[in-house]
Amino acid sequence: MARIYILDDSPTALSNIERALTASGMHELSGSSSRPQEALQQIESLHPDVIIIDLDLKDADAASIIREVRRATSWIVIVAMSANDDDATLELARGAGAQEFLPKPFARDELFGAIESALRHQAAVTPAEYDNAVQTNQQPQGPQDNYQVVSVTGPKGGTGASVIAANLALLASQEGGRHTLLIDLDIQHGSLRRLLRLESTKSIDSMMDGFSSGPDVKLQGTIVPGPAGVSVLLAPSIANLQRPLTYDFVEGLITTARRSFDFIVIDVPDAIDANTLTALRASDRILLISSTTDLSVHASQATIAMYSAYGISKDHLAYILNRSEVNSDLSATTVESLAGLDIFLQFPYDPIVVSASVNRGVPFVLQKPDSQMARKVRELAQKLLPSFIRKASEEGEEGVPALAAVQNAGVPASDQGRKQKKRRFGFTKS
Ligand SMILES: Nc1ncnc2c1ncn2[C@@H]1O[C@H](COP(=O)(O)OP(=O)(O)OP(=O)(O)O)[C@@H](O)[C@H]1O
Ligand SMILES: [Mg+2]
Repeated sequence: MARIYILDDSPTALSNIERALTASGMHELSGSSSRPQEALQQIESLHPDVIIIDLDLKDADAASIIREVRRATSWIVIVAMSANDDDATLELARGAGAQEFLPKPFARDELFGAIESALRHQAAVTPAEYDNAVQTNQQPQGPQDNYQVVSVTGPKGGTGASVIAANLALLASQEGGRHTLLIDLDIQHGSLRRLLRLESTKSIDSMMDGFSSGPDVKLQGTIVPGPAGVSVLLAPSIANLQRPLTYDFVEGLITTARRSFDFIVIDVPDAIDANTLTALRASDRILLISSTTDLSVHASQATIAMYSAYGISKDHLAYILNRSEVNSDLSATTVESLAGLDIFLQFPYDPIVVSASVNRGVPFVLQKPDSQMARKVRELAQKLLPSFIRKASEEGEEGVPALAAVQNAGVPASDQGRKQKKRRFGFTKS
């Protein structure tokens, strides 16, 4: 549901649009005003997704207002409306930065059509727009040997990003003793809910209201205890999405999480939009999970180039091949030369272990800790967190860690991770 703000100095027009929006239930009315100065202030504080603005304002230059909004917040999409629909008016609206033009008078369907098509522009931000809007959000240089925030994503869907994100977070908590947060930023798929069989009405979007006035409290109130002591921030099921996430919320969330957690793993969708770019830029390392197919590797090539256009350098990427089959389309050498990156790690194709774990909702690092898949996740954790140790192996323990469910029996969910870490694992001294 997009949040809409309306600026029109005709009270009748204003209330007609307000009524149409409210009656439809499709979008939320974020605010409205007939006074341009008041509108500018409210837009700054309300962060609407869409602004509907009348180009024929009597006491103000609407094009300047559009330009000012554009300069300050480049994700807001703008629908300009006017009683004139000649070429000059259209050009004025476009030149100022409006995405859609709506000739007055219009029917409800036309209004909603313009909003929908304006919203489609929201996802496609140009690198220049992105830079203007997110000047402060420079990618932090995490300590080279210890990455606190790790994003996991793919050049296209289905490469195994969510599976690897979940297993990495669990292992960092279970064996590395890290106080770990796993964030599902993939609202469309929300795979972590399914992969970990977590049922909760708490989800990331419900944190947004009042987030800026108490971010730490909001975060603590929304996380759900997952297996192996991992805290999880779930995506809503799509039907329950209350509000689309905004990039400034994503940025604030990661800053807040850094204060409370040792290790943060974010499942980032493969789309290039404001939210994903913000998450990637706020991460210390990005795991780009590709499969070895021709399509996936070529998509990697395009994705890496696209990242670079958005200021995300190759140095921050760890290029990982998943589902590597013996008869892969491409050899490792070809993959590296196409992607222009060395392969950081390679996971095998193991449908038996992975599917069994997905089907039962128990990540394979817990279900099959000695499988090749789990060993590779361990190797990954060791490469990202060199102080990561598996105390069990140091102690010469032969056994395999039991399922978290068994280990956690009788321990309150919120205490599972802490107690388990104390009981079994520790840090190396650096
Ligand atoms: N190494 C592997 N061997 C076999 N199957 C795998 C492997 N890794 C992942 N899979 C399977 O691939 C499918 C996609 O995995 P996953 O959902 O993690 O991908 P994704 O990149 O997050 O996709 P999406 O774009 O849908 O979010 C799942 O069915 C999973 O079981
Ligand atoms: Mg996924």
